[in-house]
Amino acid sequence: MATILCAGGAGYIGTHTCIALLQAGHKVIVADDLSNSKKAALDRVQQITGQEIPFYQIDIKNENELSVIFAKHKIDAVIHWAGFKAVGESVEKPLMYYQNNLGCTISLLKVMAEFGAKCFVFSSSATVYDVHNAMPLKEEDVCACTNPYGWTKWMGEQILRDVGKVDAQMSVVLLRYFNPIGAHESGLIGEDPNGIPNNLMPYISQVAVGKREKLSIFGNDYDTPDGTCIRDYIHVTDLAQAHILAVEYLMNGGESNTFNLGNGVGFTVKEVIETARKATGLEIKAQTAPRRAGDPARLIASSEKAKKVLGWKPEHADLEEIISSAWKWHSTHPTGFADGRRDASC
Ligand code: UFG
Repeated sequence: MATILCAGGAGYIGTHTCIALLQAGHKVIVADDLSNSKKAALDRVQQITGQEIPFYQIDIKNENELSVIFAKHKIDAVIHWAGFKAVGESVEKPLMYYQNNLGCTISLLKVMAEFGAKCFVFSSSATVYDVHNAMPLKEEDVCACTNPYGWTKWMGEQILRDVGKVDAQMSVVLLRYFNPIGAHESGLIGEDPNGIPNNLMPYISQVAVGKREKLSIFGNDYDTPDGTCIRDYIHVTDLAQAHILAVEYLMNGGESNTFNLGNGVGFTVKEVIETARKATGLEIKAQTAPRRAGDPARLIASSEKAKKVLGWKPEHADLEEIISSAWKWHSTHPTGFADGRRDASC
């Protein structure tokens, strides 16, 4: 059993991972500034698992506040999701993204060094890969980003690789997520973005629940079978399992490593919309719009390395099943965690 600090653990992937960690017998501490997440999500995690989670609402960049947590709990490993993640906003406000996302990583590393915590799992992204690579993407493929958000992921990785080189005790797993969707089987937690969703699946869900009128399909002239972009969609609970395996791999002396996490199958935007119509039984209006800047035509993972080294086995390959799990959450919580009436009945 390990004690794991989940930085940014109140968010979408963090909460799903907290459940999996607790159910695997680990102890979880969450630190989050709640800038893009809600405390209610952690309350749900406690409701699902029946376990208490010590929670600290702090700015992860603040080393003094982090030190208080490390002084109080003997942290074995850190999983780090704390960061801004809106691609378009990162283009508008690059300094805010570099300062926050890199600042959080650096502060965590400094405080970990002070307290002798040696295992670090980093939430990275398929967005670090150069768009010219052949599919499926492998971990050693060329990296280059198209926006500041992506660069903060790539630079975060580089900081961790550099620290790993000088500190022989520090071991790091970089997890490159492809497109996480879906929700916990209970339907009690799921994705709840602030404001207008940037990503496809939460946008589709908001159209389905009637919160938004129609979806824009960004570009229909890509070199793909139906002209829309192809992505590799992975169930968030499969992603959560990979974090447990990564922590356990590091705790058992595994060397620093990088792993892609995807299903290895690509779906076009139109296929996702069609599947969502089937899963929900609703029309889900969509219209073609201009391409979104920086979108690569295809992103598909080879996750062979994660399967071989970590023993990771994604359990959900059926897109309709994955979307249905998201729909269970969205249809019962049309306003996300703010839906107090539903909270009471859960
Ligand atoms: N899309 C639409 N309409 C929308 C939203 C998205 O057509 O309203 C299209 C996009 O153009 C893209 C596909 O749906 O072709 C998927 O887009 P997402 O925004 O859902 O996801 P991305 O592939 O752009 O990935 C981004 C980040 C990743 C991050 C991921 C999920 O680059 O790092 O969002 O947060 F992991």
